[in-house]
Amino acid sequence: MSLSIPPLRYCARILDNRSLGGALFHLVLGVPPIATLAQPGHFLQLDCHPSLTLPRPFSIMGVDGDKGTVDIFYQVVGAGTAYMSRWQPGQEAWVLGPLGSCFTMPPHGVPALLVAGGVGLAPLRFLAHGLRRAGVQVTLLWGLEAQTIPFATVPALLGVAGEPVPAPLALQMEEEAGIATRLASMSQRDGFYHGLVSDLLEKVIAAGGGNPHLYVCGPTAMMAAVQSVAKTWGLQGEVSLESHMACGFGGCAGCVVPVATPDVGVGAWHYVKCCTEGPVLPLGQVLWNPSGAQQQ
Ligand SMILES: Cc1cc2nc3c(=O)[nH]c(=O)nc-3n(C[C@H](O)[C@H](O)[C@H](O)COP(=O)(O)OP(=O)(O)OC[C@H]3O[C@@H](n4cnc5c(N)ncnc54)[C@H](O)[C@@H]3O)c2cc1C
Ligand code: FES
Repeated sequence: MSLSIPPLRYCARILDNRSLGGALFHLVLGVPPIATLAQPGHFLQLDCHPSLTLPRPFSIMGVDGDKGTVDIFYQVVGAGTAYMSRWQPGQEAWVLGPLGSCFTMPPHGVPALLVAGGVGLAPLRFLAHGLRRAGVQVTLLWGLEAQTIPFATVPALLGVAGEPVPAPLALQMEEEAGIATRLASMSQRDGFYHGLVSDLLEKVIAAGGGNPHLYVCGPTAMMAAVQSVAKTWGLQGEVSLESHMACGFGGCAGCVVPVATPDVGVGAWHYVKCCTEGPVLPLGQVLWNPSGAQQQ
C-alpha cells in the first residue's frame, strides 16, 4: 500500500542521536507531520550534509504521534552516515517523507514471523509493535553480528517453536509487549542461536511455527535465503528492500529492482521502482539473480 498524499520536505529537529556501540546509532527526530502519517515500512530521505548532493534513505523504526517524534536506527557505512553520527541535539536536518509502500496485515488468524538482519531490524520493529497492538501473534528473529547488543535485553519467557523456554536472551521492549524474540549470530555467543538467522527461521518453521506470514528485511543474501526457505515451505510474506536510491520519489529510476509478477507471464520479469512501488514488495516476486533468470 502506498500513501495517497505526496511526500513533503520538513525541517526536523534532532532530539537525540546516541551511539549504541560500534557503528550503530539511534537517532530521534522531532518532525510531527511524519510522526503522524508514517506506517510500518515507510522510509525517509535525510539530507546528511550540504556537501552531499543526494539525501540518504532510512527506514522508520518507530513513531510517537503524541510527541511528534520519529526513531531511526542506523549504521555508519560511509560519508553521509558519518556526518549523521556527529549530529547534536538541537541541530536541524531536512527530511523528505514518509516515502514508499508499507507492510500489510497477515491473513486473519495467521501468526507473523519477522526475520531481520542487522539494521534491517528498524522497519520490522515498527511493524512488530503495530501487529501486536492489532492482536496478531508475533515472533521476531534477529541476526546480529555487532559486538554489543544495541538494545536492552531480558531473559526470554515467551516461547518460540523449537527453542527452549526460558532462554537467556530476548529484546526487552518486545518481550514486554508480548512479542517473542530470539537472536542469531555466526559467532559463538551466549544466548544466541549459532548460525544464520535464515537457518534459525527454518528450524522454527520445522518445529511447528504454524504456517506463519513472513516479513523480512536485511542484507540481500539474507533476504534471498529467507525467500528460498519460504518457497520450500510454501509460505507467503513481504520483503522490505534497501536498494541504492537517488531521488526517493520516483523521478530518476535509480532504484529499480527486477521482479516477476503474475501479470508478466511465466519466466518473464520486469523492473519496479523500489522507492515508490517498494520498498515493501511481496516475498517471492523479487529476483535476486535476474541475469540467470533464476528466482530463489
Ligand atoms: C528504503 C531504505 C531503507 C534503509 N533503511 C536503513 C536503516 O534503517 N538503517 C541504516 O543504517 N541503513 C538503511 N538503509 C541504507 C542506507 O540508506 C545507506 O547505508 C546509506 O545511504 C549510506 O550512506 P553513506 O553516505 O553513509 O554511505 P555511502 O558513501 O553512500 O556508501 C558507503 C557504502 O555503503 C554502500 N551502500 C550505500 N547505500 C546502500 C544501500 N542502500 N544498500 C547497501 N549498501 C549501500 C555503498 O555501496 C558503499 O559501499 C536503507 C536504505 C533504503 C533504500
Ligand atoms: S530513487 Fe529515484 S526513482 Fe527511485
